[in-house]
Amino acid sequence: TTAELEAGFLHTVESDQRIEPRDWMPEGYRRSLIRQIAQHAHSEIIGMQPEGNWLTRAPSLRRKAILMAKVQDEAGHGLYLYSAAETLGADRADLTDALIAGQQKYSSIFNYPALTFADVGVIGWLVDGAAICNQVPLCRSSFGPYGRAMIRVCKEESFHQRQGYELLLTMMKGTEEQRAMVQESVNRWWWPALMMFGPPDDRSPNSAQSMKWKIKRHSNDELRQRFVDMSVPQAQVLGVTFPDPDLAWNAERGSYDFGEPDWQEFTEVVTGRGATSIERIANRRAAHENGGWVREAAIAFAARSDEGAHH
Ligand code: 3HC
Repeated sequence: TTAELEAGFLHTVESDQRIEPRDWMPEGYRRSLIRQIAQHAHSEIIGMQPEGNWLTRAPSLRRKAILMAKVQDEAGHGLYLYSAAETLGADRADLTDALIAGQQKYSSIFNYPALTFADVGVIGWLVDGAAICNQVPLCRSSFGPYGRAMIRVCKEESFHQRQGYELLLTMMKGTEEQRAMVQESVNRWWWPALMMFGPPDDRSPNSAQSMKWKIKRHSNDELRQRFVDMSVPQAQVLGVTFPDPDLAWNAERGSYDFGEPDWQEFTEVVTGRGATSIERIANRRAAHENGGWVREAAIAFAARSDEGAHH
């Protein structure tokens, strides 16, 4: 009976074992995973754009090679995640269609423009840093293919984070102008990075159920706090400050207190009214349409190989 299946499912989740694609699962669990994994995949793919913008203008061959590797990794993560969503019965083509029709979300962070080369460093340090903070616990997500995908993704994200921090350390050893460029970039990215963790817990409709099902292991606010605590000492080493007058060590809590992100701005960005929202989707749509002939050729080739196999 359904009740027995449900009890078996909950037992698996509660004893920290994995749910695999062929196991029975509640429809809500499947739906929520497809939602989260698809948004995550879309974020990786859309996330190629802000930095991809700097590939042709990287200041040296070395920086260009590193950045190219990084942007290609993001593409790989996206494909990995679409595959994880397909194990739940979603279709990658449908998910892409939903993205370019503006029906599915992707991370708020990629709706801000990368204006200077310092942004490449700050995106690596803070954006990939926030992504790691959020994704390391997802390696223990209850759904097998998602958790396993996260292991490799997190290893690569660590490389991304370090390349960003190293780039910034180099710039901070440069001229006064370069140091100012880094600080200006940090000022623009700090608050959007905090918003990556999602709305506050009391306004996060999916959190409670996702944590019960162990899709998520920590709440949005817990991870945001962890990220702040991790980033402050790194900023001190780098020699930059965060644009938050309320940021202060709280000895009692053993954590930093910090100000409230502008949740109005977050809502605007998530509902498609960010600074670059229209451009990001237009670029994605154009890339998809321009790639149509490749998909057609691949399908025709596969059909011919199938015929060959039957002779
Ligand atoms: N940007 C856009 N939408 C967001 C968001 C953000 N930063 N934070 C929350 N939302 C959306 C949620 O998706 C949800 O929308 P929906 O109900 O229509 O699906 C709504 O706002 C309410 O938020 P909840 O807190 O209830 O949603 P979740 O429980 O799903 O928590 C999350 C949000 C913490 C982002 C969670 O989905 C998650 O951990 N996702 C996996 C990680 C991820 O997607 N990362 C993407 C950014 S980093 C990256 O991938 C690129 C890297 O290489 C740089």
